[in-house]
Amino acid sequence: MAPPDLRDRLIVALDVDSLAQAERLAERLDGLVRRFKIGSQLFTAGGPAVVEAMQKRGAEVFLDLKFHDIPNTVAGAAREAARLGVFMFNVHASGGLAMMKAAADGAAASAKELSVRRPLVIAVTVLTSLDRSALQRELGVTSSVEGHVLHLAELAREAGLDGTVASPNEIAAIRRSLGAAWVIVTPGVRPAGSAAGDQSRVATPSAAVRAGAHYLVVGRPITGAPDPAAGAAAILEEMGA
Ligand code: C5P
Repeated sequence: MAPPDLRDRLIVALDVDSLAQAERLAERLDGLVRRFKIGSQLFTAGGPAVVEAMQKRGAEVFLDLKFHDIPNTVAGAAREAARLGVFMFNVHASGGLAMMKAAADGAAASAKELSVRRPLVIAVTVLTSLDRSALQRELGVTSSVEGHVLHLAELAREAGLDGTVASPNEIAAIRRSLGAAWVIVTPGVRPAGSAAGDQSRVATPSAAVRAGAHYLVVGRPITGAPDPAAGAAAILEEMGA
């Protein structure tokens, strides 16, 4: 089998605040980047029109809105995400088993009804902004960060989800316990020798791919580069190294 095109595994985070800025970035990345992440900032500013604008360019969209609500509400949001035609969206695993099942079922039902592809449903486990002390003192979780990440990832699988977001240092453990088919989406990717910014746990593109990430989510090393296309090309090259 031909090696998978690395462009299908790179997701560029459109962390900007308007459709116009998103369009400008997508224009500069045309031909190199096929997948974009639209998160709460851009979606709140621009709404579904931003998703549609990226799709019109032939790009796939990861809708990063991290749904976390009662199951009925999350099922509704999941149906709308499928209707928008995004290839992937996410929910907080800490919403529990019933909520995650509602997300998976809502997405599948809507996709079937509309005869569109079912989006991948991905769980966010423990936010990387939380360390062990915040987990214990603020949220009352007594296990280690890694233990809780694995617990929530297993719950996500039980609920019928497709994968998890995982920081670079969680990839190997998740791959080991959840197996090869589990989709791992990894942010915190930085080219060798570049600034980490506010990311504390980072990996190079080749290390993240080698550790078992399917998709790499990269923002500022591409969107903040003087030449975003050159930034994306460099990341793609490092992914293949
Ligand atoms: O600019 P940078 O490459 O750090 O962007 C990474 C993207 O991934 C941002 O959109 C950020 O919100 C997201 N993300 C993250 N860490 C997580 C989950 C998502 O950086 N644990």
